[in-house]
Amino acid sequence: MSNTSSDITGPRLYMDNAATSFPKPKAVHEAMMHFATKLGASPGRGAYAEAREAGRLMNQCRERICKLIGADTSKPQQMVFTLNTTDGLNIAIRGIIGHAIANNTTGSDKPHVITTWMDHNSVLRPFNALANSKDIEQTRIKCDPQTGLADPEDIKQAIRPNTVLIAVVHGSNVTGTVQPIAEIGKIAREQDIPFLVDAAQTIGHMPLDVEQANIDLLAFPGHKGLLGPLGTGALYIRPGIEDRMITSKEGGTGSVSEQDTQPAFMPDRFEPGSHNAIGIIGLSEGVQYILDKGIEQIWEHEQGLMRMMIEGLSEYGEMPNMTWYGPQGIKNRCGVFSVRVGGYDQPQTLSDALESRYGILTRSGIHCAPLAHQTFGTHDLGGMTRFSFGPFLSTQDVKYASDALGQICLETQAVTK
Ligand SMILES: Cc1ncc(COP(=O)(O)O)c(C=O)c1O
Repeated sequence: MSNTSSDITGPRLYMDNAATSFPKPKAVHEAMMHFATKLGASPGRGAYAEAREAGRLMNQCRERICKLIGADTSKPQQMVFTLNTTDGLNIAIRGIIGHAIANNTTGSDKPHVITTWMDHNSVLRPFNALANSKDIEQTRIKCDPQTGLADPEDIKQAIRPNTVLIAVVHGSNVTGTVQPIAEIGKIAREQDIPFLVDAAQTIGHMPLDVEQANIDLLAFPGHKGLLGPLGTGALYIRPGIEDRMITSKEGGTGSVSEQDTQPAFMPDRFEPGSHNAIGIIGLSEGVQYILDKGIEQIWEHEQGLMRMMIEGLSEYGEMPNMTWYGPQGIKNRCGVFSVRVGGYDQPQTLSDALESRYGILTRSGIHCAPLAHQTFGTHDLGGMTRFSFGPFLSTQDVKYASDALGQICLETQAVTK
């Protein structure tokens, strides 16, 4: 169990890795400190050694991420750095739809897009904004109210001749539900429809292969499972897909400066403005940490944590005042575990009790996923309380959390009897 800064007293157990991961590997801080104190230069903006070295380190980061997700490491330029997942999703969504509109690829029909009820606001809101401005039509696939799983057959049925994009969240940040993206990717590829995956909760936590799953666009954070700092993220664009996208931001790239239009080549095409070099160089070490450990081993560890949570709670027997959501086992689930406890009808009060009595840090509410909460019937109840795991938690940490939750449930049960 890790203690955080000295002005926060008592035990602190960080279980909000779905928001951002904490702690980060030491090598991440060291690389950032090295950049801050020894390099300092803006990559691609100077013809001196420090700027070249910063550029080299950034490209190394692109290659490392390609390696992790099964993308071609000889084409690191397909890895576009972004501010976060949301930024990458917007570049992809607006890029694909804008291209379809600009080239009138859907004829007299508006471009049509498909997503699911388990998706995050970072997909729902851009789609809604484009639908409200009458630029697109959209279909949102309902998911199973017990598990949160989308049925690939429903996605197949929703495809129309004017469908230009299918966007699906890989792992839910509400229930941990892991969608069958390989099956959905197969359907999308058969119909030649670009497939965008939001890997905010899965990259760095579980194996993810863009080739096996037929993923055309993968948006993800650097600051969660990849163990980099806040302010980092990336969008992987399968080679060739960039030709079906327009840019939604343009500006200086440090390249072809004599030209007053955006360069067509990757990654500059989608990377206007100075980079968050310090963050990306830190991120690179987070990714290397995962490559060194092995993603299979990390995934096994995180599945062990989930197993411990479920088994630890089951030691408390039947707890009629507690509900936990999503797949009822470790299958089809990543390291997110959300509950509601009767007697703590506002989920934040449960988070408060977990923090004040046990030092356990969780996140309560709607988690930017209103339709996911509607799927589970918790939208109008204020949502759920979420525990989310990461590689630095131990099974003892999770046992401590399941005991804390178990004790709270038993006490409230006794009071309300
Ligand atoms: C599933 C999912 N998608 C997208 C996002 C947005 O991520 P970011 O904050 O990196 O933009 C999150 C953040 O929690 C998420 O959980």
